[in-house]
Amino acid sequence: MNKTRIVSIAFFALTAAVSFSSCRNKQSPGWEYAPNMYEPMSFRADQPNPNFANGSTAQTPPPNTDPIGFVKYEYANTKEGYEAAGAELVNPLPLNSENLISGKKYYTVYCGPCHGDAGDGKGHLVQIEKYSGVPSYYGDAASSRGGMMKDLSAGKIYHTIMYGLNNMGSHASQLTPDERWKVVMYVQQLQKTQ
Ligand code: HEC
Repeated sequence: MNKTRIVSIAFFALTAAVSFSSCRNKQSPGWEYAPNMYEPMSFRADQPNPNFANGSTAQTPPPNTDPIGFVKYEYANTKEGYEAAGAELVNPLPLNSENLISGKKYYTVYCGPCHGDAGDGKGHLVQIEKYSGVPSYYGDAASSRGGMMKDLSAGKIYHTIMYGLNNMGSHASQLTPDERWKVVMYVQQLQKTQ
């Protein structure tokens, strides 16, 4: 046997071994190069973990702790929570044109489609009859929770953004606390419309 033959037989044998070994299990990726790149050494949140008594990686935070950057909202989604938020909460941001311009921007994106850019309750979705019962922020429109829309306090508006109300969904996940207060500031300008 000459050298070339030995090399080519070895080559075919190896190729066959590699190809057949990858046929055994359809789910298997076969031989992986540097598998550490696919299988991280760290534990994934949704996978088992022998280091904890309950065997899972994702642990419940210890009692009385808050995630970093998390802003609590302690008013319940009830009539009492709404009244308490309305009486106690104050807009922490200064009333200035910078905040109003920013508030208008978020209002136009998240509220205008129903409430209308002018706050008259005649937004696009109301006009095409996707939504109804959207009150105007001004004039003699009344809130379904009592009182006049033009008199809603900052806290009541903030509370409504947090939880929504009937046909209106919560907007807490779309807006950060800072952005919510800017929107509240802008809505309070619209309430002054004559
Ligand atoms: C999908 C349409 C829709 C969107 C979007 C929407 N709203 Fe509403 N909103 C409504 C409807 C409908 C009501 C009346 C609910 C009721 O009284 O049953 C309402 C009521 C309100 C009220 C009155 C609450 C009260 O106590 O009577 C406020 C304040 C308000 N919305 C603010 C906002 C703000 C701020 C945004 C944007 C972050 C927004 N809404 C986005 C439909 C919407």
